[in-house]
Formats: sequence, structure tokens, C-alpha cells
Amino acid sequence: MIPPKPEPRADKVSLWKYLRLFRKDILSAQPARLYRAWMAEFRTPFFSSFLINQPDLVKTVLNMRPQDFPKSGRVGEGLRPLLGNSVFLTNGKVWERQRRIIDPAFEGGRIKDTFPAMQAAANAAVTRLEGQVGAPVEIEEVTSHAAADVIFRTLFSVPIEDEVAGKVFTEFRRYQRTQPILNLAAFLPIPRWMPRLHRLTTKKTAAAIRALITEMTARRQMEISVGLAPDDLATKIMTTPDPVTGERFTTGEMVDQVAIFFLAGHETSASALAWTLYLIAANPDIQGRIAAEVSGIDPLKMGFPDISKLKFTRDVFREALRLYPPVPMMVRETTQPETFRDRTLPIGAQVVISPWHLQRHTRLWDDPDAFRPERWQTPEGKSSAREAFVPFSSGRRVCTGASFAMAEAVILLAALVSRFRFSTVPGKVPVPEAHLTVRARDGIWLQVADRESGQD
Ligand code: HEM
Repeated sequence: MIPPKPEPRADKVSLWKYLRLFRKDILSAQPARLYRAWMAEFRTPFFSSFLINQPDLVKTVLNMRPQDFPKSGRVGEGLRPLLGNSVFLTNGKVWERQRRIIDPAFEGGRIKDTFPAMQAAANAAVTRLEGQVGAPVEIEEVTSHAAADVIFRTLFSVPIEDEVAGKVFTEFRRYQRTQPILNLAAFLPIPRWMPRLHRLTTKKTAAAIRALITEMTARRQMEISVGLAPDDLATKIMTTPDPVTGERFTTGEMVDQVAIFFLAGHETSASALAWTLYLIAANPDIQGRIAAEVSGIDPLKMGFPDISKLKFTRDVFREALRLYPPVPMMVRETTQPETFRDRTLPIGAQVVISPWHLQRHTRLWDDPDAFRPERWQTPEGKSSAREAFVPFSSGRRVCTGASFAMAEAVILLAALVSRFRFSTVPGKVPVPEAHLTVRARDGIWLQVADRESGQD
């Protein structure tokens, strides 16, 4: 089965046509040749962008010389009102310090500690969905709710029903609608000073979110100071001193980080889980195999070690991340002239790494557009993955939450598939588009039934 893929545009269009297409959707605005090219240049009147698909070049930028390719300043433009000086946007010494404080909270042992909170969120998601059995359900809404619940419970030990948490979630949804593109300003062939669409609304929503997050963070600071703070990710991060300077985050610095944990943590997982559910709804045999794998354990009562037993479920999620990487493109900037494939990249050129194209590259993957979870256990699949699978990025700037997100996905999928059977709704084929993350143009609609009531 070939799952939905945006129709790429013809290889040659004028800059103004490209701009119009881009404004509609960055994925379908790209030419078809990007699925087979090793490198492509986009010249605009204001700057040059180079998209690189060649694995050794990607490794040069992400793994070998990341210090020479910092995050592009253009990335931050739309996001700074919400994220401030968060680890997602900073570079150099500031970024290094932030990672030194944040990383210990996401190490293996700590992920284990977050397991009960993730499981409680999975149980809550099942209970919520029980009320929607029978009718078509917009599943991105369900996964957004579940992923936000996971973040609130693991970070601040509160469920999404908490009053402030609920408000943050509502404001984030508004933000997502007014901020169309995460990370992709580097492609946008318009000068920085040109007024952007929705700017004012986005700024107002960002301010509202930050006010709420500040309230939660300040309350936690107070709880820590009187010794009454729960042992969760927020407490861990806020009490961890920088091993180099001994200093902790101030409340203001922590607000910036909490903003990115909410944004990066729930938007991405929600997108990936929604596409996974669509893919298994469209492939009942694969859904049946997950159900069979999960049937050996009670997902609502399983323990942390059980996650590693759900190997096929994990491979299905990986395959969904390959086809629908929530962060479709990442942007870096050159700090010195570089020569890639005999072409010179000037200082300040934008370097785009596109998990979307890399993970569907015709020269790097066998049958790249097909949904085939079994590829993850073949030598060819494993070799392609080593070369061209970067849904969480790679190198020292790799996603902090990668292990967290993998554990969360397996727990939620196990809980949902063991309880429900998902099927597609006739006539409703989702069309992928890049918003804040990769979403479906009109949502992802699925029919939800009780699993006991049907056949596999
Ligand atoms: C399926 C889920 C997720 C995906 C696909 C994903 C993907 C990514 C990617 C591609 C980046 C690098 C972006 C770039 O370099 O431009 C990133 C960075 C980041 N992610 Fe995730 N992410 C996921 C879940 C999470 C979760 C659950 C958290 C935290 C709770 C998180 C926190 C972060 C942070 C803090 C960064 C910035 C790291 C840095 O720049 O040093 N992510 N993520």
C-alpha cells in the first residue's frame, strides 16, 4: 500500500509561483527531483538555500562539524515570541550550558521514572476514546490531547484536566493554527523585514502561553524551595546544577525550556501517533499483528521492561516516522565558505536537511513510498536507516526527547490497539501538509470500534 504523499510540483516554476505554492504548503511546493537528487540549490534574491540529501554531507553537518553549522537565525524568527531563548533556538556556549542541565533529566534511568505517568496518560486516552466508539473520529485531536497529557504529567505531575494545564493546551492549539511553519523560514524567499501573515495573533497567543507557563514554573520554584516538590522532570531540571558552573536555571530560563518541551514534545508526538494510527487503520493486517503482540501483556498494567517486548509495534512507529517525519526539515547556516559537491556555499547560506526527502529518497531506500514495517528487520532496511533516517536529527543536537518519545509511542499504541480497532473512513484520505509539524490538511478521520466486537 502506498500511503498518501503530496503531489510534488513540476521541476521548473518561476520564483513567484514557487512563493505562492510555498505559502500553501511547503511539502507540495518542492520539486519532484528532490526525491532523487543528492543536493539542490534554491537561489532567491535575498539568500541561497542548499538542500542536502547526500548521507556523508548530512553527517558532516549534523555529526562531524556541528559547530560550523549552527542553527539558522531565520528559524527563530517566528518562534522566538513563544520560545524565548530556549534550547531549540540557541547556539554556542548558551546552548551547551542548557543541554548540560537538561540532558540528565532525559537519560535512560529517568525515562523509566516517567513510565507510570505515561501509562496513566495512556489509560486516560483510552477512557476518553471510549466515549467516541462508533462515530468517525478526528484522530489528530485525540493524539494531541493524549500527547499533551503525557507532557503535563511527566513534567509537572498534573493531568490535562488541571485548570492551568488545560488552558495551556487550548492556547497551544490556537498557536498551531496561526503559526503555519516550524523551522522553514530558510526556504521562504522573502526578506526578513516583510510583515508575516498572522504575526499579531501569533504574538498574542505566544504571550498568553508564556504567562501560563510562568505561573506553573514559579509555583514549582516555590514548592522546591519549601521541599514539597514532586519528583518529576520539572523538579529534576530545576534542581540540576550546571556541572561546569554550578548554577541552576533561573525561573525565566526555565520558562523558555518548558515552552519548548510543550511545543516539541506534544506537537511532534501527536503528529507521529496520528499518522501511525492512520497507517494501521489502512493496513488491518499490520494492526492485527500489533494487537497480537500486545495481547501477551496487559498494556494498561504493563511494566517498563515490557516496552522492549513490543518490537513490532516499535517498528511500525519507526516506519510511520520515516514516512511522516513530524519535523520535515531542519535548517542550519554556514559560518565559513564550504564546498559541497563542487559547489561553493557562501557564508550565511542556509543548509536544509530534509528528513521528509531523505527518508523517501529513491536512491537510499527500497520501495521508499511504501508502508513496510518489516523493512526494519532486514539488512537492507537497517543499512538505509543508518544512512538516511533522522526523524530526531542526529549528533550532539539530537532531539532531547527521542527516547522519551519512542517509549511514549509504544505505550500509547499498545493501550489504544489492545482496546480499539481503527479503520479508515471511506472518501477521507488525509493529505499531508507541513504546519507546525506534518499534519493532514483536513484532519485524519478514523472509525473507532471496540476490539472485542470484531474479527482481526
Ligand atoms: C515523535 C516525537 C518527536 C520528534 C519526531 C522530534 C524531533 C525533533 C527534531 C528533528 C529535533 C531537531 C530540530 C532541529 O535541529 O532543527 C528536535 C529537537 C528537540 N526536541 Fe524533539 N522530537 C520529538 C519529541 C520530543 C519530546 C517528547 C521532547 C521533550 C519532552 C522533545 C524535545 C526537543 C528539544 C528540547 C529539542 C531541541 C534540542 C536542541 O536543539 O539541542 N522532542 N526534536
